[in-house]
Amino acid sequence: MKILVTGATGGVGRLVVDELLARGATDVRALTVDPVRAALPPQVEAVRGYLGRPGTLPAALAGVDRMYLAPFLESSVRSGAVVGRSEGETNAEVCRLAAAAGVRRIVDLAGAKGEHWQVIEDGVEACGVPFVHLEPGEFMANAGIWSAQIAAGDVVRDGYGDAANAPIAIEDIAAVAAHCLLEDGHEARSYELTGPESLTRRTRVEQIGQALGRRLTYVDLPHDEFVAQLSEAMGEYAAWYADGMRELAEHPQAAVPTVAELTGRPATTFAAWARAHAGMFR
Ligand SMILES: NC(=O)c1ccc[n+]([C@@H]2O[C@H](COP(=O)([O-])OP(=O)(O)OC[C@H]3O[C@@H](n4cnc5c(N)ncnc54)[C@H](OP(=O)(O)O)[C@@H]3O)[C@@H](O)[C@H]2O)c1
Repeated sequence: MKILVTGATGGVGRLVVDELLARGATDVRALTVDPVRAALPPQVEAVRGYLGRPGTLPAALAGVDRMYLAPFLESSVRSGAVVGRSEGETNAEVCRLAAAAGVRRIVDLAGAKGEHWQVIEDGVEACGVPFVHLEPGEFMANAGIWSAQIAAGDVVRDGYGDAANAPIAIEDIAAVAAHCLLEDGHEARSYELTGPESLTRRTRVEQIGQALGRRLTYVDLPHDEFVAQLSEAMGEYAAWYADGMRELAEHPQAAVPTVAELTGRPATTFAAWARAHAGMFR
């Protein structure tokens, strides 16, 4: 059974490759724009191609049974490679090519239903290939937006410190993806994925401090200042993100048990993630 991992050098895709190998998959193909630079494990077949240019994909899709589909959205591309295409159109074309090539399962990474990732799921469903939708909420790695401030001092100026959600480790997303690629019984399911506990932004900063052996102080910025600060890293998504945090301050996201139920191991806690990634904040 040949499994194609797209976005195989990305945060999640690279870990999906590792998870598949760890679970004994022996026929893993990985899609990347640069197979040499990707430096994938030697038992992985690295093939050249780019989700943003579907014309590069037929050879990569040949003989593939199951595919991990990394999220490709036109709005994330600034290179001009997909000028003139509406959001989700390229993804839909990739899915049609996968169907034409005989792929029999797509496990896609999107996000919460109804958000801007919805077009990913729409394209997958339109192509007719049996699918599993993975719908993670916020990634723990997003805490990286505090890394420069924490490296520079003990004060984190941020916004909506009381906003609470249940961020997930990308390692857990990858473990679920590998499970759904290898195991049967998940067809047409949508899995909301979160970490094991709902935590405020303030608590997350405190836990990073504990991982570093430091006491960090969280300072709430007014909305507009928060958006301006976020814009440096998030560009046009800053206002959308800040609005989401305002919403979470009033309506916290609850944790769901999906990761543990599917993988059979507890989802990574934020405190453990912070200890494992403490170097990011030094
Ligand atoms: N952060 C969150 O809270 C959150 C929540 C839900 C969903 N998401 C989504 O999850 C995704 C992150 O997953 P990820 O880190 O595994 O994947 P990624 O960073 O989006 O990309 C994975 C790989 O695909 C190729 N690629 C994708 N888009 C490209 C582009 N526009 N231009 C050039 N190459 C591109 C690159 O591989 P090669 O160069 O090797 O070809 C890249 O390493 C994001 O798309 C995000 O929207 C994020």
